[in-house]
Amino acid sequence: MRKAKIIGTGSYLPNKILTNQDLEKIVETSDEWIVSRTGMKERRIAGAEEFTSDMGLKAAKKALKNARVSPDEIDLILVATLTPDYIFPSTACLIQGQLKASKAAALDIQAACTGFIYALSIAKAFVESGLYNNILLIASEKLSSIVDYRDRNTCVLFGDGAAACVVTGKEKKGLWIRHCCLGSDGDQKDILILPAGGCRFPASKETVTSNMHFIKMEGKEVFKHAVRRMEMSSKECLDSAKLSETKISWLIPHQANIRIIDAIAKRFQVPKERVFITVDKYGNTSASSIGIALNELLNEKKLNRGEHLLLTAFGAGLTWGSAILESI
Ligand SMILES: CC(C)(COP(=O)(O)OP(=O)(O)OC[C@H]1O[C@@H](n2cnc3c(N)ncnc32)[C@H](O)[C@@H]1OP(=O)(O)O)[C@@H](O)C(=O)NCCC(=O)NCCS
Repeated sequence: MRKAKIIGTGSYLPNKILTNQDLEKIVETSDEWIVSRTGMKERRIAGAEEFTSDMGLKAAKKALKNARVSPDEIDLILVATLTPDYIFPSTACLIQGQLKASKAAALDIQAACTGFIYALSIAKAFVESGLYNNILLIASEKLSSIVDYRDRNTCVLFGDGAAACVVTGKEKKGLWIRHCCLGSDGDQKDILILPAGGCRFPASKETVTSNMHFIKMEGKEVFKHAVRRMEMSSKECLDSAKLSETKISWLIPHQANIRIIDAIAKRFQVPKERVFITVDKYGNTSASSIGIALNELLNEKKLNRGEHLLLTAFGAGLTWGSAILESI
C-alpha cells in the first residue's frame, strides 16, 4: 500500500505576547495560580486585522517551502479550525485562493482541539486510496476572538497560532503516518461549547448580552475526560499498530495543561524529557497545538530512521485521537 508521509512542516505564531502578568491586570488572577494550575507563562495573540486564514497561509507557505512542493502541485487543502474566518465559505477555500493552488479541492474540518489528528487521518486515507498525491494540511486558530477576557476560568488558557504540513504519497523520505485512531462522545457536548452563532442560537441582542458567543467550559470535567480519553486513545493506537510504548521516541500531546500532559506521560513509559512541551510559551492553541509542537520538534531535534512519534489530542465534542508517525 502507498505510504502517506509528512515531508515538510511549518508554523506561525503572532508577535504579540500576552503574559501572566498582563492577565493579572485584566482579571483577578496571579502568575503563581496560572503556572501551578496550567504550566502556562505566556501565549500569543493575533492582531485585530490578522485572521485564521492569514495565520494558516503563513504556516502553509513555510510548510510548502520546507517540503519543496509548489501550490499548483497540491490536490487538497484541509484546514482544521474551530475559529474559521466565516461560517462559510470555508477557511480552506480562502487559503486556496490566496495560495493560487489552482488544482486543489478545499475542506474545513471541525474536530476542535483534535483537529490536527482528524486532518492527518483524512490526509492518510486520501493518499493511501490513491485519489490524491499531495495534501496541504493546515491548523489555524484565532481563539482570542471567542475568549471572554472577563472570565478568569477560561481567558488564561488559550492562545492564537497556526501550523501546517505537506502530506504526500510519493516515494520520499519523511514521517510516515503509520496509524491513526479517532473517537468521539457527543453526550458530553455541553462541557466545552461555544453556545451561539450557529442555527440553534443565531446572533441576536440576547445572545450578545448573555455572552453566548464566548467559550463556556466546565474545567474539572474537561480535565478528567482529557486524561482518560488521551490515555485510552494512545493505548488503542499503539495496540492496533502492534507497537510497544518503549519504541516511542517522542510523545507530543495536545498542549492544554501541563498537569494533563504530566498525567498522561506518567501512564506511559515515555521519560519526561521525551515529552515535547510548548504549553508554557503558547498556551492552548486548540487544533494548531500538536502541529506547532511537531514543527518545533523537527526543527530542534534530529530524528533517525525508524524512530516513532506518538501524537495524542482531545477536544470539544468530545473528540479525541492519536497518531503514530515513523521516520523513514
Ligand atoms: C481550568 C483549570 C486550569 C482549573 O484548574 P482546577 O484545579 O480544576 O481549578 P478549580 O476549578 O478547582 O478552581 C479552583 C478555584 O480557582 C479559581 N480560578 C479559576 N480560574 C482562575 C484564575 N485564572 N486565577 C485564579 N483563580 C482562578 C476558581 O474560581 C476556583 O475558585 P473557587 O474555589 O473560589 O470557586 C483546569 O480545570 C483545567 O485545565 N481543565 C481543563 C481545561 C482544558 O484543557 N480545556 C481545553 C480542553 S481541549
